[in-house]
Amino acid sequence: MSFTFQDFPAARDDLRADVLAGLAARPKAIPPKYFYDEAGCRLFEAICAQPEYALCRTEQALMATHLSDIAAALAKVACIVEPGAGDCAKVRLLLDALRPTHLVVMDIAGAPLAASAQAVSRDYPNLEVTALGMDFLRDLEAAAPWLPAGQRLVYYPGSSIGNFPPDAASALLARFRQLAGTAGRLLIGFDLKKDPQRLHAAYNDAAGVTAAFNLNLLARLNRELGADFDPARFRHYAFYNPVAGRIEMHLLSLMEQDVHVAGERFHFALGETLHTEHSYKFRRDEFAALALTAGWRLAGEWEHDGFAVQLFR
Ligand code: AVJ
Repeated sequence: MSFTFQDFPAARDDLRADVLAGLAARPKAIPPKYFYDEAGCRLFEAICAQPEYALCRTEQALMATHLSDIAAALAKVACIVEPGAGDCAKVRLLLDALRPTHLVVMDIAGAPLAASAQAVSRDYPNLEVTALGMDFLRDLEAAAPWLPAGQRLVYYPGSSIGNFPPDAASALLARFRQLAGTAGRLLIGFDLKKDPQRLHAAYNDAAGVTAAFNLNLLARLNRELGADFDPARFRHYAFYNPVAGRIEMHLLSLMEQDVHVAGERFHFALGETLHTEHSYKFRRDEFAALALTAGWRLAGEWEHDGFAVQLFR
């Protein structure tokens, strides 16, 4: 049994620079990766338990149902690499089915990642586990020294790719090709286009957990950047934009107000929004075409109740 944890700090300086730049931009925007402080990670798990938000449950069901097919299509895999692995819960099914020798997981939330990766290492005594506490959008290439030779599979589940507009998604998928190496594979899960009412409900759950998740970003900025946002003066506002094919999530200012962040003052007009997330939805053919722009060729696909997983080589 072997377990390695390597931290790549600097996340704090990036938060400050990204937030100041985002608040100076028009429209105002903050990258969704900053949702995931400790409270944000807990709130995202709570979102996954809401009846309206089926995404996580559906992907789990898809993977469980089609696991042997997926494993057969993958054949021999020496190493699974998972960017944004979070609690490392999803990859366990693949570990069982593929029995690789190495697992490399990365996440911007380093401490929780280290704990969950170590638990995986205890449960799979023959597996070499490496946990990299990094913002993989920034530092992905720094993972190279930890990647073993042999067939590698990049696993990117959960429709996280939906956070990126097409150009950025293509660029990220191209970087995954470098991560996978020659003869590498990509197994990726994404949410499908469906009845907009269902999509709308998923991001506007009755219990208000998604609203709390969105507003938690302001609490984080207050705590970590000495900001003075009053969450009661902002409204969670999420809707499906069918022209762009995405859920847009915003924090809408309920009044004209000034906010101070890291010593700088920012003005919000009444009704102005701070854009916090895009969540793109795809058709299967659309996603395969997007992946092809990054050089990935479709090698298998599975669909279940509005969610899809595709395999690329
Ligand atoms: C983790 C990016 C897949 O876009 O559905 C859930 C995050 N945001 N509810 C998504 C999220 C609001 C989620 N992803």
